[in-house]
Amino acid sequence: MIHPAIRRYWPQYKWSNVYAMIKNMKKEPKLCLEPFHGKLVVITGATSGVGFHTVRKYAAMGAHIVMVNRNAEKSEKVRREISGEFGVPVDHVIADLSVLADMQRAGRYLAELEKPIDVLIHNAGLHLDNRSETPDGFEVNFALHYIAPFVITSMLSDKLRRDKGARIIFVGSEGYRFAAWGLELDDLQWVRRRYSGLKAYGAGKLAQLLSMHVFAKDLAPFDVTVNAMHPGMVRTDTGKDNGRFYQWYKKNIIDKNSASPEISAEALYYLGVAPELARTSDVFFHLTTEEELSPPGRDLEAAEAIWALTDKLLRDKGLSLW
Ligand SMILES: NC(=O)c1ccc[n+]([C@@H]2O[C@H](COP(=O)([O-])OP(=O)(O)OC[C@H]3O[C@@H](n4cnc5c(N)ncnc54)[C@H](OP(=O)(O)O)[C@@H]3O)[C@@H](O)[C@H]2O)c1
Repeated sequence: MIHPAIRRYWPQYKWSNVYAMIKNMKKEPKLCLEPFHGKLVVITGATSGVGFHTVRKYAAMGAHIVMVNRNAEKSEKVRREISGEFGVPVDHVIADLSVLADMQRAGRYLAELEKPIDVLIHNAGLHLDNRSETPDGFEVNFALHYIAPFVITSMLSDKLRRDKGARIIFVGSEGYRFAAWGLELDDLQWVRRRYSGLKAYGAGKLAQLLSMHVFAKDLAPFDVTVNAMHPGMVRTDTGKDNGRFYQWYKKNIIDKNSASPEISAEALYYLGVAPELARTSDVFFHLTTEEELSPPGRDLEAAEAIWALTDKLLRDKGLSLW
C-alpha cells in the first residue's frame, strides 16, 4: 500500500523546483550597504560558524547585539572580542536551547528588553548522527531547531506586537528536503522509527519552516516579517559531536567543498536590513534568493496540525504560551 503522505505529495513534486535549488547554490548573496547604528539584533548560537560571522557583520555595521549562547566561556570570549573590535554594546544570555527551562529563561530575558528588537535570528543548530534525547524527553533536533524558536518567538509575541516592525529570520536549511514525505506527526520524537541523523535534521528544519507560515500570518498586522533562509554550504563547527568517520568525511570532503560562513553573514545582514524586504514575509531564501518550497514545506494544513500538536505538547509539559 502506498503511504498516504507519498500519495499526497508526489503529484506536487516538480523537477524544476530541484533545478532551481541547484541554480541558487551557485549564486552569490545580494549585499546591503546600509548601516544599522544602534539597532538591536538578537541571535542564537553565535559562538561559532554562521552565528559568529553574522554577529561580526551586524556589529561592524553599528548594531547593538544580544546573543543567546550555550557555552558561557566561549560566549564571553566572543562578547569581548566583538565589543572590543567594533565598539558596540554586546550582551549575552547563557541558555541551552534544547532545554525547555532555558528556552523560557532566554525568552523572559528577551521579552523584558526595553529596546525594540529590530532583527531576531534563530540560528542555533546541530547535526547529530545518533539519536539523543533532551531532559524534557524531546529528540534533540526537534527541540533545538523547532521547539526553541517556537517557544522564544511565542514568548516575544506581546513585545513584537507592541514594538512593531521586527524582522524574524529562521536559519533553516535545504536539508528540510530530507523530510521528503513530511512530518510523522505520531512519531515526532523518533521513538518508533529507525533514527536517521539526516532525516531527523530535515524534520526539525521542516517543522521550523511550517511554523514560519503561522507566525508570519499571525504577526503580519504588526509589521513583523518572518522569513527563513538556507545559509549556504559553509565551513563551520557543525557535526562536531559526531564520531571519527564523520570528522574525517567533514574535513576531507565537506569542508573542502564548502564556502566561508562570511557569505551566510552577508545574506543574513541583507535579509535583516535591506529596505526592499521591509514587507517581505513568509518566504524561504537560498542565501538571498527567494525559493519556492518543496510540497511538504508549503503544506499549510500540516503547518496548522503541527502547531496545534506543539501547543498541546508544551501544555502537557506545563508550559502555556498563550
Ligand atoms: N554549515 C552549513 O553548511 C549549514 C547548512 C545549512 C544550515 N546550517 C544551519 O546554520 C545554523 C548554524 O550552524 P553552523 O553551521 O554555524 O554550526 P556551528 O558552527 O556548529 O554553530 C552552531 C551554533 O549553535 C549553538 N548551539 C548548538 N546547540 C545548542 C544548544 N543546545 N543551545 C544553544 N546553542 C546551541 C552552538 O553553540 P556551542 O558553541 O555551545 O556548540 C553554536 O554557537 C544551524 O541552524 C545549521 O543547521 C548550516
